[in-house]
Amino acid sequence: MTVVLDTILATRRWVARERFAGKLIGFVPTMGAFHEGHLSLIRRARRQCERVVASVFVNPLQFGEGEDFERYPRDFSRDLALAEQEGVDVLFHPAAEEMYPEAQQITIQAGKLGELLCGPARPGHFAGVATVVAKLLNIVQPDRIFFGQKDAQQAVIIERMIAELGFPVQMEVCPTVREADGLAMSSRNAYLRPEERANATVLYRSLCHAATRIREGERDASRIEGEMREMIGAAPGAALDYASVVDRRSLEGVSTIDREVLAAVAVRFGKTRLIDNVIAGPAE
Ligand code: PAJ
Repeated sequence: MTVVLDTILATRRWVARERFAGKLIGFVPTMGAFHEGHLSLIRRARRQCERVVASVFVNPLQFGEGEDFERYPRDFSRDLALAEQEGVDVLFHPAAEEMYPEAQQITIQAGKLGELLCGPARPGHFAGVATVVAKLLNIVQPDRIFFGQKDAQQAVIIERMIAELGFPVQMEVCPTVREADGLAMSSRNAYLRPEERANATVLYRSLCHAATRIREGERDASRIEGEMREMIGAAPGAALDYASVVDRRSLEGVSTIDREVLAAVAVRFGKTRLIDNVIAGPAE
């Protein structure tokens, strides 16, 4: 049975009891509208940990002016049914007033890492993510926390936050789960009209192209970026935000590809902004 808890106090109490009983606690933070990507994290947590806590909270702090906070998909009863199926022990589902009883004064800034890649298009977004994850970590106090590679910049920032602020938790980053045609699963895919959905495969196609070029010996990052931009430009309805080859940890641009890099893209279809990435390196 999955227990639904909507207060910080009840969640702290539940976790304290399990920790006192010596249980290893895994935590999967989400914004709900579960898809196979979320479930893959829950399954990984289930395999590794004796207790699994997941959170469903559409965090207002990480949405900018004019973004999709209001229309972000919410279906808590479906999420709960899936959580039951996957053996989640606790689903923490707080209201916004529980998490932010007053306007949040104290936030965690992501520094330069928050300004690269998605940073310019989403000012304040990564500070909102870092702040809510820090707060959730203090509430749940898990032994392990699970994130998806799908949101590579988020994973890099949280990893850095955990290290730099000394959160006593071990973080795992899990592979991106994709649809059969390669589109990375995302709650935002539901916004796409059928023809946009069909053209959205260009994100992964451009990334596969980049990975192949790198594997086959191309070392000039800007040439590969140019090729990705050209592919995305040729897809009907696709407006390029960025197509970049960057260092995996610093997220800074590289000129010569002499180590593993992150190829990352962000593309808008109408109002829907999609992101994806792959890690690629020269063949050994
Ligand atoms: P959300 O978009 O719901 O994603 C929750 C977790 O699922 C994140 O770690 C994300 O990277 C992972 N995920 C999403 N799609 C995935 C896919 N196709 N394959 C693998 N993992 C995938 O990311 C957030 O929520 C929020 O920013 C959050 C961390 C909860 C803070 O509010």
